[in-house]
Amino acid sequence: MKDNKIQIALLGLGTVGLGVYKVLEKQKEEMLPKLGVELEIRKILVRDLKKAASKGVDAGLLTNHWEDVIRDDAIDIVVEVIGGMEPARTYILEALQAGKNVVTANKDLIAVDGKVLMDAAKQSGKDFFFEASVAGGIPIIRPLKQSLEANHISEVVGIINGTTNFILTKMTEENMEFSEALALATHLGYAEADPTADIDGLDAARKVAILASIAFNSRVTFEDVYTEGITKITSRDIRYAREMGCAVKLLGVARNTPEGIEVSVHPMLIDSDHPLASVNDSFNAVFVRGDAVGDTMFYGRGAGELPTASAVVGDIFDVAKNIVFNCTGHVNCTCYKNLRIKKREEIVSRYFMRLQVEDRPGVLAAVTSVFGDNNVSIEQFIQKRKKGTLAEIVVITEEVIERNFNDSLEHLKNMPMIKEISAVIRVY
Ligand code: NAP
Ligand code: HSE
Repeated sequence: MKDNKIQIALLGLGTVGLGVYKVLEKQKEEMLPKLGVELEIRKILVRDLKKAASKGVDAGLLTNHWEDVIRDDAIDIVVEVIGGMEPARTYILEALQAGKNVVTANKDLIAVDGKVLMDAAKQSGKDFFFEASVAGGIPIIRPLKQSLEANHISEVVGIINGTTNFILTKMTEENMEFSEALALATHLGYAEADPTADIDGLDAARKVAILASIAFNSRVTFEDVYTEGITKITSRDIRYAREMGCAVKLLGVARNTPEGIEVSVHPMLIDSDHPLASVNDSFNAVFVRGDAVGDTMFYGRGAGELPTASAVVGDIFDVAKNIVFNCTGHVNCTCYKNLRIKKREEIVSRYFMRLQVEDRPGVLAAVTSVFGDNNVSIEQFIQKRKKGTLAEIVVITEEVIERNFNDSLEHLKNMPMIKEISAVIRVY
């Protein structure tokens, strides 16, 4: 900080980078009264100078050389909004080692390498903030780390991917099939050209790993998260779910149980009365259960230029205040426990299952006895319809250990009277 000004370098000028530029411009007049200091963008690192210059930013700030940022001692805050693993990882580490504070929106990196980055920040006594990495504009990292610090948090459940929530909403409200809803999401710009990370649940898995680490004070990484996407969900499953008073949502679920942490992402039936069930379109929400606060829910825009920039600039302002008061580095890694993470087979859930079976006496009894033999208790068993020689049945189980459910499934798959297992969806 020099002359009551803090200098910022922006790495990347895509959706979020441009949003950060715009929000900082909009806040210009209020910075001094708000922060006691002014913020200035000193450099913007891009790949393509010509492309970046066409975006309406001050062309004099643009560079395509990392050295122009890392060797500039006047830069106090580096804002990484390039995304992905490299070169973002190297840039962040070099910036922290050079004594600069870092703000990022990079969930890919934090979900895998959060510990390395936070250790580097601790060593240099600098801030490393990443509010935008989970649920875009919704404040959730800071509330978990600070506002809810007085709680033992037992559960964090989130709709943390807007693209899949939009698709499931269209499938529910307009009876679309998955491919049609995905095409609409792509057309409207919600889904990326390659939607794999969203529809296969990987984006949500990264976010739930970050949430679980903070909520339970124990490191959870992307590879610890059991992940299933929404590509197999059909409008028929959604219709049956509705008949049972449930919505189908892609949920990131993290639970702190006495036997260890359960962490997973998958589509789930959720009771319509639960606040998450009415979170629709591309909105996100995170439901948190703490022993002191009880149930809380955080709702809003999980992505987009300005909502995400809102979170990034909030972090920049926090760093700026810490620089002014000479107290950077005081909010650090909060993973001071080393809790066991449960294996997938140990996770407990209820299940919805849809099967096509031969329509003749004794078949339903055979199916129920398979469940009974594997310690799977049935909550509901409904014959939905007949089609030729086949009957469609829907089973909802009580809470069951995944291992026992899978054993039943393997057995059922090998029974000639069972023609198809059309759907298996967990129930929240
Ligand atoms: P984006 O639109 O693809 O922007 C990334 C920018 O970084 C692009 O302009 C790209 O340049 C630039 N870039 C790539 N490699 C570079 C390099 N080596 N040096 C300098 N610039 C480089 O991505 P985004 O949507 O803004 O996302 C940025 C980060 O925010 C990601 O970590 C993402 O996960 C996170 N995030 C995004 C959202 C959202 O709503 N978009 C929400 C929450 C979090 P080119 O234009 O030349 O490719
Ligand atoms: N692709 C994400 C979503 C936004 O659909 O929610 C970026 O995290």
